[in-house]
Amino acid sequence: MNRAEVVSEPPPAGDDQEDEDLERIEIRLLLEGIYSRYGFDFRDYAPASLKRRLWRRIDAEGLTSVSGLQEKVLHDSACMERLLLDLSINVTAMFRDPSFYAALREKVVPLLRTYPFTRIWNAGCSTGEEVYSIAMLLREEGLYDRTRIYATDINDSVIERARHGVFPLDKMREYTQNYINAGGKRAFSEYYVAGYDGAQFQHSLVENVVFAQHNLASDGSFNEFNTIVCRNVMIYFDRPLQDRVHELFYESLAMFGVLALGHKESLKFSPYERCYEVLDGQEKLYRKVR
Ligand SMILES: C[S@@+](CC[C@H](N)C(=O)[O-])C[C@H]1O[C@@H](n2cnc3c(N)ncnc32)[C@H](O)[C@@H]1O
Repeated sequence: MNRAEVVSEPPPAGDDQEDEDLERIEIRLLLEGIYSRYGFDFRDYAPASLKRRLWRRIDAEGLTSVSGLQEKVLHDSACMERLLLDLSINVTAMFRDPSFYAALREKVVPLLRTYPFTRIWNAGCSTGEEVYSIAMLLREEGLYDRTRIYATDINDSVIERARHGVFPLDKMREYTQNYINAGGKRAFSEYYVAGYDGAQFQHSLVENVVFAQHNLASDGSFNEFNTIVCRNVMIYFDRPLQDRVHELFYESLAMFGVLALGHKESLKFSPYERCYEVLDGQEKLYRKVR
């Protein structure tokens, strides 16, 4: 038989299915390996987006299979760092979804005013744009000095960037517009100084912020909060992991505390749905009532 005949022969029925099954096994082994070796738990992330991101890293490393990536990641922690950046999807923005911040100001701030001191957890804070936005809003409402914000993320390197508070200069026009649409009360430019590396935001905005690594997939509760802001994070989790995180948030919220989710996220169908009342359905603001 010549080569042309071999190539043109259709694959036996079921080959594709077998490949997919094998790949699923390889991915499971890779994720188990990462968990045992580094403690990062991606085992319950939504499979389709996980697979896409793994293959992006496989290509970038010049590898050809999931098993190849497993071998490299287990022996080379720098490769794990790179994969972590791929998997943790750090896209964020200041005053992202301005209508959310407007609702926070209008509906959550009055509730926070009723406490002498409040704790806010910003879970999945990425490079910090969200926590700086929350801090500005609280300062403008006269609440910042009696608030402590805990800003956490699975990824150490984004937390480090959040601590520095330097954001790209070419984003300032977009962020200024977001800030205005969110009901900002000052000139946005008051909050930063333009420098060579980017816009350096006032350090005083994070004076009351505690930055720490925390993995929503495996770590427990660490305080009691009046508000938890966790936006655009659970969208990457499968149902059981979302339920785990809802349990964690429920346990971590004080009674009448507020949970804020991303526009594409919801409490619907979670086992905790009936424990909250809807403060703003559009902006995914919920209040714990039982
Ligand atoms: C798309 S960003 C969202 C950032 C910000 N909350 C926002 O809405 O702009 C998702 C963030 O969730 C973090 N993340 C992913 N899995 C996590 C986990 N298991 N525990 C904590 N943070 C996680 C990622 O590192 C990333 O910084």
